Amino acid sequence: MEKNMERENIIKNLENELNNVKTKNDLANVKALFLGKSGVVTNLSLKMKEIPNEEKKEYGKYLNEIKILVTNKIEDKNNEIIRLELEAKLNSEKIDITLPARHSLKGSIHPMTRVVEELEDLFVSMGYDVVNGPEIDTDLNCFTKLNLPAGHPARDTQDTFYLDNDYLLRPHTSPAQVRTMEANKNKEPLRIVCPGKVYRRDDDATHSHQFMQFEGLVVGEDISLADLKGTLELFAKKLLGEKTKVRFRPSYFPFTEPSCEVDVTCFKCGGKGCSLCKQTGWIEVLGAGVVHPNVLRMSGYNPEKYTGFAFGPGIDRFAMFKYGITDIRQIYTNDIRFLEQFDRKDAE
Ligand code: PHE
Repeated sequence: MEKNMERENIIKNLENELNNVKTKNDLANVKALFLGKSGVVTNLSLKMKEIPNEEKKEYGKYLNEIKILVTNKIEDKNNEIIRLELEAKLNSEKIDITLPARHSLKGSIHPMTRVVEELEDLFVSMGYDVVNGPEIDTDLNCFTKLNLPAGHPARDTQDTFYLDNDYLLRPHTSPAQVRTMEANKNKEPLRIVCPGKVYRRDDDATHSHQFMQFEGLVVGEDISLADLKGTLELFAKKLLGEKTKVRFRPSYFPFTEPSCEVDVTCFKCGGKGCSLCKQTGWIEVLGAGVVHPNVLRMSGYNPEKYTGFAFGPGIDRFAMFKYGITDIRQIYTNDIRFLEQFDRKDAE
C-alpha cells in the first residue's frame, strides 16, 4: 500500500513537471531530476541496502516498474516535443499556394508575320515551296540576270544601297527567281514563293527604305498569263475577302513580258471611292507578268520548252489593309502598345 502511494506520488510529480516542459532542455532537466545521479528514482534504488534480504526481490521489481514508468513517460514527452518542433518547422516553411501567380508576359504575332504566314499557307496548299533568299545579294542576281544589264535605265526605279560594286541590299525579292532556277537547272517545273525584306533608296513620306515583298514564280510547260490571272485573283480574294475584285493594267518590267500592275478593289470603301483609294475605288498592290525568255535562258531554262509567270506584291500594304493600320511606320517601330493589339487568340 505504501509503495503504491509512493509510486503514485512519484508519477504525479513527474507528470506535473512534464506538463511544464516546453523544450528539449526542460526535458533534460526533468530527466535529471528523476533518473539522474541524485534523482528520485536513483535515490529509491539506493534504499535497496536498507531492505531486508527476503524483500529485496520484490523491492527490485517495484523499482524496475517505477523506472520503466518514468522512462516511458519521459520518452513520450520527448516524442511529443520532436513532433511539435517538426510541426512548427513545417508551418514556418509552408508555401502559400493561394498567392496570386506572377504575371507572365504573353507576346503576340506581328501583323506582318501573320500576313506572311497566311500567304505561305495559301501557296503551300497550291503546291508551292517556300524559299528564302539573302538580303544582301549580288548585282548580277538582282539586276543583270533579271534582264537589267548595267546601265539599263530601269535600274533607277529600283535604286538601293550598295555595299561595294558587286554586293547590295536587294531592292526586290526577284533574285529569288534567279537563285531557284539556277539551283534547279532546267530540271522540272517550279512553283515557289519567297517572302522577305527588301530595300530601296526611297526618301519620300509615303515610302519606307525597307519593306516586305512576297515573290512568286511558276515555271513549267504551257504556263500562261491566264494562270497568272487565276492565281492572283485567288490570292486577293483569300487575303482580302471574297468580294474583292482584281484589275490588270499593262505595265513594264524588264524581267517580264507582257507585264502588268494589279489593282484590287479598295478594302475600305469596297470600290465606291474614298480617301484611301483617292476616289478611284482601286488600290495598286503588285507587279507581275510572264517571265521574259532572257531571264529563263540566263538561269539555265530553255525558253522554247518552258514558260512561266512571276509576281511581286509589297505585303506591308496588305497588312495595313487587313488590320486597318494607317501609318506604315507603325509596322517597323516595334511600339509594344501597337503590337499588343494583335494578340495570339485572333491569330489562330
Ligand atoms: N520585282 C518587281 C518590283 O519590285 C515586282 C515584280 C515581280 C514584277 C515579279 C514582275 C514580276 O517592283
